[in-house]
Amino acid sequence: MLFRTLILQLAQNKTFLNWVRRLAIRSGLAQRFVAGENVSEVLDVVRDLHGIGIAATLNLLGEEVKDEKEAEAAANASMELLRAIDRSSVKSRISLKLSQLGLRFSKETCSGHLEAILEVSRELDNFIRIDMEGSRYTQATIDLFLEHFASYGNHLGIVIQSYLYRSEEDIYRLIQLPCNIRLCKGAYMEPEEIAYAKKGDVDRNFIELMEDIFLSPSYLAIATHDNQILEHACRFAAQHGIDPDQFEFQMIHGIGRKAQQRLRQEGYAVRVYVPFGTEWAPYFVRRLAERPANFFFLLKHLLRH
Ligand code: FDA
Repeated sequence: MLFRTLILQLAQNKTFLNWVRRLAIRSGLAQRFVAGENVSEVLDVVRDLHGIGIAATLNLLGEEVKDEKEAEAAANASMELLRAIDRSSVKSRISLKLSQLGLRFSKETCSGHLEAILEVSRELDNFIRIDMEGSRYTQATIDLFLEHFASYGNHLGIVIQSYLYRSEEDIYRLIQLPCNIRLCKGAYMEPEEIAYAKKGDVDRNFIELMEDIFLSPSYLAIATHDNQILEHACRFAAQHGIDPDQFEFQMIHGIGRKAQQRLRQEGYAVRVYVPFGTEWAPYFVRRLAERPANFFFLLKHLLRH
């Protein structure tokens, strides 16, 4: 966790970020986590996943846009992505971040764009998952989810992070709806006043929240590569006779490929989160911060070349 904080803090420095960006491309590590730059490249990845029975969620990378123009461009790109998926021979959902749609400067702007995207999603019978970002956006993200849930409930899902203390209460409210919840550990830098600092506590809370959702009428997307949690989830679902249509496992493109395939072969629904686009640096840094080995891979490349 300390390592994660250090990398996320360093990443606020532009020089460090540029250095990481260059090295990530040269070493090939960026290509491991980012599936491509454009829609046609990424649809090939989705096709390959379909070939082995795995579903996909596409994420057009981008976050923290600074003005109306950027927010509008991001919203248009998401709607175009939904149409491109519809025109293609593959099926995929999409995930997006509300700071991509202007949440940083205007909740109203963001809400308007989200609604326009949801209209297209409903028309094309697709599904939008709102990713959860840093804690400055948690409440607004839940508010906007709830605001649109009444009209677009079947086409809209949310994410809850087990490192936040508040998540127990959030889950309690959300599972009553019921709705579609992705549970993850959380990837941002958060202070100890609001988030568990120790991995053991984050994992324990993940399991508790996961069991709560399992036992509710809400749909559960278990987003982790943590083998112990994956095993616990399979055991718990079997012991409690949870309907297999009520949950799925989700993993990130470039991580846990063997576990994805094993779970699929065992008959579980598996979905891979496939990010693409040119604005990949902040996403890449979060993947770097999760695992020291990724950072050392970059350093080794630097020393060798
Ligand atoms: P943990 O970090 O304990 O890792 C377990 C094992 O997974 C590691 O031992 C390693 O083998 C492997 N692993 C994990 N991360 C790796 C990496 N970067 N590189 C290589 N191997 C790695 N977060 C968030 O805040 N908001 C969100 O909306 C989402 N959305 C989301 C969707 C999906 C589908 C997934 C899987 C994850 C997210 N996350 C997220 C990220 C999540 O919060 C968390 O940071 C990562 O999943 C890493 O944590 P794990 O649960 O894998 O456990």
